[in-house]
Amino acid sequence: MDHFLYRDGALYAEDVAVAEIAAAVGTPFYVYSTATLTRHFRLFDEGLAPLPHLVCYAMKANSNQAILKTLAALGAGMDVVSGGEYQRAKAAGVPGERIVFSGVGKTKDEMRMALEGGIRQFNVESEPELRALSEVAVSMGAVAPVTVRVNPDVDAKTHAKIATGKKENKFGIPIARAREVYAEIAALPGVHAVGLDVHIGSQLTDLQPFEDAYILVAELTRQLRADGHSIDRLDLGGGLGIPYERSNSAPPLPTDYCEMVKRVLGDLDVEIEIEPGRLIVGNAGLLVSAVTYVKSGEGRDFLILDSAMNDLIRPAMYDAWHDIVPVIEPAAGAAMHPFDVVGPVCESGDTFARQRPMPPVKAGDLVAFRSAGAYGAVMASEYNTRPLIPEVLVHGDHFAVIRKRPTFDEMIERDTIPEWL
Ligand code: LLP
Repeated sequence: MDHFLYRDGALYAEDVAVAEIAAAVGTPFYVYSTATLTRHFRLFDEGLAPLPHLVCYAMKANSNQAILKTLAALGAGMDVVSGGEYQRAKAAGVPGERIVFSGVGKTKDEMRMALEGGIRQFNVESEPELRALSEVAVSMGAVAPVTVRVNPDVDAKTHAKIATGKKENKFGIPIARAREVYAEIAALPGVHAVGLDVHIGSQLTDLQPFEDAYILVAELTRQLRADGHSIDRLDLGGGLGIPYERSNSAPPLPTDYCEMVKRVLGDLDVEIEIEPGRLIVGNAGLLVSAVTYVKSGEGRDFLILDSAMNDLIRPAMYDAWHDIVPVIEPAAGAAMHPFDVVGPVCESGDTFARQRPMPPVKAGDLVAFRSAGAYGAVMASEYNTRPLIPEVLVHGDHFAVIRKRPTFDEMIERDTIPEWL
């Protein structure tokens, strides 16, 4: 459920008309709903109770400072994957003891930064990384808290580009080798084990692959404890999918996911950590765009928008579906007409949807891409020297710009000219 609904024939973000925001900030822009963010965070946070737990929002999905602050105020921890994300989390006021550091290629500088600023745990993904971390920690007179991300070799049944839990993926340590790796942790001076980590992929629409992985994690936890290691936390990763195509999908709910976690892992006496990104912020955001032209082609009509693949890359990159709805509610029973919905960038890949049935639309009309809050703004670029589009946060009946559109001068001034020119 989200808070983008039609009211008296117009699309609203909570209690603010989307058209009012468009008039104030210009199109295209992203708009997020505080109430939706809050609701999604609470579904996980309350769903995991009474188990001791921490919901570490995977901030790669949307790392705007205002989003982070909104979630941090609800008690969220953060899952970061770079020094930049770590700095963003700290800047939003998240204490180090609520930040977990994931990722296959942490550099020594990033390790040092997190050890200096405070960190809950490093989720380590290889032995070379483990040794590098131990070295860095020893050089600082510290001992780094670690979990090992195991690769359980389960098929997440999602898009190949976002599946991470098969043995051919670059992620984690093969689960069969975990005991050896924990023995090495025990022998290294700069690291100590605090738990175990797994993440099998993103946009999963079936609970079974999660359950298969968590059963393996539970078995491994018992073995590692028998080997004498302290496994006090299980980081279960993120990955629960959202209904991108509302008329045609109903993925499991966070409450179903949490019930499964409690059933499979509830008797292990561990603190549960999860790293949801998409489910918290995906349906909390729209991309709002205006129709520039309606163009009739050879046997195919095009809706040419003022947003493009540089603003929302997911359709071009993952063949992703986003529902596209007019901001003025179509009349009941309005005739639908198929359009290719495209942007102005000079590539055929700049296509948001092919032959998408749309109600009547004309140049100047506003349309909204649903489910655009996750992996939208954060994956945007300035390709074609198109400015990064503004982000707006709604809270009840007011809204604020939380990232402004840069001017062309600001964009150009970032380049520097060598002295010979
Ligand atoms: N934890 C780890 C270690 C991850 O790699 C990810 C996502 C998450 C948590 C959060 O997963 P989520 O709950 O958001 O599914 N750009 C792609 C998605 C890439 C996901 C990468 N890792 C997209 O637009 O679909």
